Amino acid sequence: MSHVLVVGSGGREHAIARALRRSGVAVTVAPGNPGIAADGFTCTAEIPEDITCDLVVVGPEAPLVDGLADRLRAMGRLVVGPGADGAQLEGSKAFMKELLDDAGIPTARFGTFTEVAPAIAFLRSLPAPWVVKTDGLAAGKGVLVTNTLAEAEADVVDKLSGESFGQAGRTIVIEEGLIGEECSLIALCDGSRVIPLSAAQDFKRLGDGDEGPNTGGMGAYTPMPQVDAALVASLTETTITPLVTALKRRGIDYRGVLYAGIMLTAAGPKVLEFNARFGDPETEVLMERHRGDVAGILEATARGALEADPTSPEGASVCVVLAAEGYPEAPKRGAHITGLGADGQLADPIPGVVVFHAGTARQDLGDPFTVAGGRVLTVTATAATLRAARTLAYKAVAQIHFDGMQFRTDIALAAATREDQL
Ligand code: AMP
Ligand code: GLY
Repeated sequence: MSHVLVVGSGGREHAIARALRRSGVAVTVAPGNPGIAADGFTCTAEIPEDITCDLVVVGPEAPLVDGLADRLRAMGRLVVGPGADGAQLEGSKAFMKELLDDAGIPTARFGTFTEVAPAIAFLRSLPAPWVVKTDGLAAGKGVLVTNTLAEAEADVVDKLSGESFGQAGRTIVIEEGLIGEECSLIALCDGSRVIPLSAAQDFKRLGDGDEGPNTGGMGAYTPMPQVDAALVASLTETTITPLVTALKRRGIDYRGVLYAGIMLTAAGPKVLEFNARFGDPETEVLMERHRGDVAGILEATARGALEADPTSPEGASVCVVLAAEGYPEAPKRGAHITGLGADGQLADPIPGVVVFHAGTARQDLGDPFTVAGGRVLTVTATAATLRAARTLAYKAVAQIHFDGMQFRTDIALAAATREDQL
């Protein structure tokens, strides 16, 4: 294999491209972004009709739900990413919940509603915290978790009115609020076999101490000290493996990434959601920590020939997302970013640190980068321990600045303390 096409434009795709490059393959990213291009990757606005790559890796969910993997496979391409049938797992929470029920996978109690009155009656039958979700794709932002019943009820009315999330909001899922530590379990699946990566934790809320609105993710780290290899294996057995069996029973040949968002509750692990793709920003830390042959493993996933991964990653990775002023509601664009060199990396490099670009732009080569999206940069550090990695990541963050820059200061903080106690 010599040439891989990565579809997407964020920090996740930048991280995948870098990991592939370490495997010695050429990488094109469609559309990519100016920071990915500055890092030496070819970016093309469209997926070329006559693309001659050996493998396509699809990053985001929207093109998968839209059938991109099906179209590419029909052209004879090897693809990492499910067809539209499998991607429904993420495209519809109602479908996902039905599949979980079918497969006997532990999850929060839930109900699906299109009318206000029964939705509110169900809400009132549940204890706090209350959770209201849009059914369709809402980029991680269609979820309300609250300890105030009145707020949940107002959210039901708002979402069902169709004004906040359009069509995606017209069906809602209300579920039992789960309490515990969250864990992202991301696995490769070749249609039957499953290989989990190490457990990662994502920080969904905008502010320190998990305050503020849900976002697409403000930082992540891997591994999780309390989720060792044995627990990863058992979580895989109780969540991802039965899901693959249920998909197969429905005739779905799922070749791609399965991402289980799991809450480790006092009553055992329960699945919050499944995604049909790599997580962002979890992928940034998983790819940086993984020093194996990522191109080979992804190719095997697409071919249906996955074998146990011979490399066991060592050390730890931590990433901190730098977000724009106004994120997540209304990110403000245009601010100049300082601290980056012409290659988009730290102007004053720190060994072990990589800057992944998500929402950046620049006019011309050599111009400074500017803010062009909500999540702007994912500053990622890898070191022997979580504590060392987070120290490096924050040292790098201190070098970067733009007006209105938002980031959390507590990424992997509790985990580093837990790691010290092990
Ligand atoms: P989702 O998009 O479904 O993953 O939800 C986004 C975030 O909302 C999750 O990562 C959790 O932090 C939180 N969340 C979702 N569902 C629940 C639940 N049932 N109980 C508690 N928190 C939840
Ligand atoms: N990090 C959350 C997600 O990718 O959905």
